[in-house]
Amino acid sequence: MTNKQHWIASQGRPLRGTQDIPGDKSVSHRAVMFAALADGVSRIDGFLEGEDTRATAAIFSQLGVRIETPSPSQRIVHGVGVDGLKAPEGPLDCGNAGTGMRLLAGLLAAQPFDSVLVGDESLSKRPMRRVANPLSKMGARIDTEEGGLPPLRIHGGQPLRGIDYTLEVASAQVKSAVLLAGLYAGGETVVREPHPTRDYTERMLSAFGAQIEFSPGFARLRGGQRLKATDIAVPADFSSAAFFLVAASIVPGSELRLRAVGLNPRRTGLLEALRLMGADITEENASEHGGEPVADLVVRHAPLRGIKVPERLVPDMIDEFPALFVAAACAEGPTVVRGAAELRVKESDRLASMANGLRALGLRVDETPDGATIFPGALQGGEVDSHGDHRIAMAFAVAAQRAQGEVRIGDVANVATSFPGFDELAAGAGFRLRGA
Ligand code: S3P
Repeated sequence: MTNKQHWIASQGRPLRGTQDIPGDKSVSHRAVMFAALADGVSRIDGFLEGEDTRATAAIFSQLGVRIETPSPSQRIVHGVGVDGLKAPEGPLDCGNAGTGMRLLAGLLAAQPFDSVLVGDESLSKRPMRRVANPLSKMGARIDTEEGGLPPLRIHGGQPLRGIDYTLEVASAQVKSAVLLAGLYAGGETVVREPHPTRDYTERMLSAFGAQIEFSPGFARLRGGQRLKATDIAVPADFSSAAFFLVAASIVPGSELRLRAVGLNPRRTGLLEALRLMGADITEENASEHGGEPVADLVVRHAPLRGIKVPERLVPDMIDEFPALFVAAACAEGPTVVRGAAELRVKESDRLASMANGLRALGLRVDETPDGATIFPGALQGGEVDSHGDHRIAMAFAVAAQRAQGEVRIGDVANVATSFPGFDELAAGAGFRLRGA
């Protein structure tokens, strides 16, 4: 095991109580970006104090935007207008955040100045041609490293033209990069998606006063629009809640309430998958939070059965497969995942990370290029490597709650990118989990 930070986790008590999950990562990134580009002052409540989203906020400070933090999870953003960003002094560090880098690529391609986007070790291995290609078609000039990898060197001062673009991979990040560039392009930009993805960029552009037409799988906007400041209330992140949904489902005697979780239908594929597996999850106190549907999720332990995960659900649960693998490991009968090759290019190769980790705990997992079949069984103690991937680390902390020994989870520091305080929250709910 490396000397990087790790956790030791084992069976705790039944999970009980009421939990407040931190703010949504996707919404927090976008809230800072659009508030920075708007005319006027916007206030963001429920901002995720994670490393990813803080990196995005720091980048906008480097681009000349004044951002105040009156209290944790709040930001006051003094928008500079779509034409008000300043040339940065040095490279812009997106940290671990693919969302930050890809969305910023679209925005910065349209600026009059040059910029360089860099990231950490994991982000430096993630594919960027998927954004560089459509942006080049719009007239942008972006150099990548060999293989289409970061850093991205973006040459400013290029006039952009609108595009009618059909996504090659289901990716809200690529869609958003093209729409952000489209805001500055001549004429109209249209993005079409074979499989609809999360639509926060579209919803938020509209909340900031842009004229944008959108429906699942389609978005169209005209370049040259201005944005108007508005206040944003960020809902709790469904992807963070997912670990508790699975944990309470698999630990006998559990009953947990997760308060006011964002339930955008493009994010909640895991709810449907878990319910198909027999999970007992109810929605209470449904309301709206910043234009997004939210509800308390009440989850009680229930015996799960293996399923073939419907492929149509894959984009709607793309970040939830690490959690789903753990549910599958504790079910009755195998679970089959297909059509999920995108998991190989996330913060780690999540199909391999989960398969190897579950094998280290004594299970059989058969991998395919685009999925895996998970054969459930009695989880043993053992050592697993999270490969610096926040969601792999949290998934194995959940798995450990059913293991028959201690699970040592390596390389967990990146949990702070999306879910700072996960370990304390989990321990408070009943997990046995400590840093070592
Ligand atoms: C995100 C989109 C998804 C998701 C990521 C956040 C976003 O990535 O995995 O965690 O905020 O747009 P892709 O668009 O690459 O699928």
